[in-house]
Amino acid sequence: MKNVKAAAAHDRYLFDSGTDLGGAQLNYLSALLDGTTRSVLGSLTLAERPRCLEIGAGNGSVARMLAEEFSGQVMAVDLDVDHLEPSPGVEVDRYDIRDGVPAGPYDLIHTRFVLVHLPSRREIFARLIDALSPGGWLVIADMGFAGELLTAPEESDHQLWRKYYHAASRIVGPAAGHDYGWAEQVEREMYAAGLIDIAAEHLVPLARGGGPWTRYHSNLSLQAEEAFLSAGLSRAELTRFRAMLADPRFRARFFTVTYTVGQKPPR
Ligand SMILES: C[S@@+](CC[C@H](N)C(=O)[O-])C[C@H]1O[C@@H](n2cnc3c(N)ncnc32)[C@H](O)[C@@H]1O
Repeated sequence: MKNVKAAAAHDRYLFDSGTDLGGAQLNYLSALLDGTTRSVLGSLTLAERPRCLEIGAGNGSVARMLAEEFSGQVMAVDLDVDHLEPSPGVEVDRYDIRDGVPAGPYDLIHTRFVLVHLPSRREIFARLIDALSPGGWLVIADMGFAGELLTAPEESDHQLWRKYYHAASRIVGPAAGHDYGWAEQVEREMYAAGLIDIAAEHLVPLARGGGPWTRYHSNLSLQAEEAFLSAGLSRAELTRFRAMLADPRFRARFFTVTYTVGQKPPR
């Protein structure tokens, strides 16, 4: 297993996708979210062979979906392309979206769980609008904060939950450049940018002990273990946290997911 590089440096992505744990994180996200992504993309009226840009493509599941199910010609970019293979209709490029947008224009730009992490999200957003062709769609899915423990196996787990969240807010909170208000602001940003046919869908997934969302969060706690230790949790507390997440008596809402779509007016 490769080492996990975890750092809360400003404007730097915390979770190193190139590691084994990073690969597992991407696979959890695909399994948890691709169904909703498919139905959101399916609700759009797309050009015949749409030129698509998939930003922060992760393991490429959405890029492949765009090529195979929506006849897209897809440019899939990510900082880390270790889990991203070219496939029919999908070109892959190692690319930092903070540096600009790969030459367009695009009939569809999609990005999921990326902009929330990047302090320059508004500058990137403005460039994405510019890169849309007339009639092109922008689709942004991002996470917001929920942080609600509903039931836990032990009374003391409530205190552990608060401690974990306090540490998490230091690691992936506003001080580290993340913005959990952003996802719900995208709709207003699209309106202000002149997009039309804007629609938003807001999900509040329930994470059940031993279920897919808790396995995803357990994996994240392993991926960022060094950062959690630096933020004041002990290894024993992290081990207990993961045991709690595996217990069927655990129920919580970790975060919300908002999908927002908008179209550049056709000429
Ligand atoms: C949480 S993962 C989401 C992956 C995928 N979009 C999904 O939802 O399954 C965030 C992805 O964005 C990539 N990423 C982070 N910062 C980036 C940047 N500045 N430019 C391009 N990709 C970036 C990461 O390498 C990672 O693959």
